[in-house]
Amino acid sequence: MNPFKKTGCAVLMALLGQSAIIAQASAQATTDARHGQELFMKRGCYLCHGTVGQGSNAGPHIAPDPVPYAAFTIFVRTPASQMPPFSDKVLSEPELRDIHAYLSSIPKPQAADSIKLLPKAELK
Ligand code: HEC
Repeated sequence: MNPFKKTGCAVLMALLGQSAIIAQASAQATTDARHGQELFMKRGCYLCHGTVGQGSNAGPHIAPDPVPYAAFTIFVRTPASQMPPFSDKVLSEPELRDIHAYLSSIPKPQAADSIKLLPKAELK
């Protein structure tokens, strides 16, 4: 029997085991943007920040490109002035992560200079 084959197999098995653990860990940390969108509507964030986080006269725009999660939680848990605070009793940590995932999933608008202008003849 070839001893290299045996060790090669053991190394392979160890690597497979490790990647399974990594896959499991990242699955637990995954967020659900669709659930986040539901929460964003149900908990009333949209009332002040608009349905896609575009902002309104009651709250600033918070998407696309929301602040990083660490800053986001601080804003939501301890707002600066007019926004009501959302404690972890009202909005759990995983729920807040889902809301952040939703805001992160909102696409950026098309750059203004990439929009093709209509030829003058079509405007008449
Ligand atoms: C009653 C209106 C209102 C509601 C409801 C509200 N916000 Fe706000 N939000 C504000 C205002 C106003 C600010 C600006 C800071 C302040 O005045 O507290 C703000 C600031 C923020 C900021 C910081 C923005 C920045 O970059 O400075 C984040 C993030 C945010 N809100 C997220 C949320 C989320 C998530 C929810 C729902 C769970 C929510 N807000 C609900 C009014 C609101």
